[in-house]
Amino acid sequence: MKNILVTGGAGYIGSVTVRGLLNSGHKVTVLDNLYKGRRELIDKRAVFHKLDVINLPALERFSRGKKFDVIVHFAALKDAGESMVRSDWYQDNITGVMNLLKIAPKLKVKQFVFSSSAAVYGEPGTRVIDEDHSCHPTNFYGYTKLAGEELLEWARKLKGIEYVALRYFNVAGDGGLNYIDPKARNIFNVIGEVLCGRKKVLEIFGGDYHTKDGTGIRDYIHVTDLAKAHEKALKVKGSHFINLGSEKGYSVLEIVKEFERVSGEKVPYKIIKRRAGDPASLIATSAKAKSILKWVPKLGLREMVESTWRAYRKTSEV
Ligand SMILES: NC(=O)c1ccc[n+]([C@@H]2O[C@H](COP(=O)([O-])OP(=O)(O)OC[C@H]3O[C@@H](n4cnc5c(N)ncnc54)[C@H](O)[C@@H]3O)[C@@H](O)[C@H]2O)c1
Repeated sequence: MKNILVTGGAGYIGSVTVRGLLNSGHKVTVLDNLYKGRRELIDKRAVFHKLDVINLPALERFSRGKKFDVIVHFAALKDAGESMVRSDWYQDNITGVMNLLKIAPKLKVKQFVFSSSAAVYGEPGTRVIDEDHSCHPTNFYGYTKLAGEELLEWARKLKGIEYVALRYFNVAGDGGLNYIDPKARNIFNVIGEVLCGRKKVLEIFGGDYHTKDGTGIRDYIHVTDLAKAHEKALKVKGSHFINLGSEKGYSVLEIVKEFERVSGEKVPYKIIKRRAGDPASLIATSAKAKSILKWVPKLGLREMVESTWRAYRKTSEV
């Protein structure tokens, strides 16, 4: 049993991970400013403090007399497009890591598990990406994640705190908490909005890629699988950057078709211009996830679509 401090535990991925950690017998304390997360998503067995991780004095007050084995750090802003027009807000992603690393020695923390992102790679020249691929983020959000990873590496050298930086590819599906993203950007959520009538049509960026059906291919993992990877990270020795993907890709039209099959409804869509910088296909290699984390995703497209559809149908019934 570990005593774990989870930041951002009221959000999409954090809330599912918190529940999993508690089910496995760990003790969990959640810090979240509830900017985007929701209090009711936090499992009642967790201790909750409404706190902003960029507020260092508040973090220092919180840390007095407390001890944790691990910090699992989800709290961040995550909209890559927004980061290009609101870089001042997104700097907070870096401040959050710095502040937590500042209090970590007082809390006697030995390990830091960090939500990184495939956005650290930018626009890779290859279709399949391993962790040795160079990192040249093409949006400020990706840069904040890379900066977070670099701060962790320095904290390892200077303070002996080990880290596991998990570079998530695309996360999808519902982890049983009926999560609805208030600012849906992910294709699964956008289709959910369309099927519930909250959005008229799905816009697909580009239909002329060199892929099987012309639409872009991405590597998706179910949020429940992703949450499990964090539990596995707690057992890891040493410090690592690890891709979390499935080594499989699904095209936009494959996802649309799966939603149509599961819902029995047509998904209205229109194909518009490609977005600048969007590669045709992005897929993770998972060798490190398998060998270091002992993790392989178990759920596929069907489960991601079915669970998303269940969550959207449920919330639109209310
Ligand atoms: N969802 C994805 O597809 C994806 C992909 C790659 C990486 N990530 C990373 O995973 C992490 C979790 O993502 P998510 O999808 O659950 O996002 P989310 O927005 O649902 O959750 C983030 C949570 O952090 C909280 N938060 C934000 N800033 C905070 C602050 N300064 N202090 C305290 N709490 C704060 C929010 O209220 C929210 O509850 C983020 O770091 C994100 O960058 C997500």
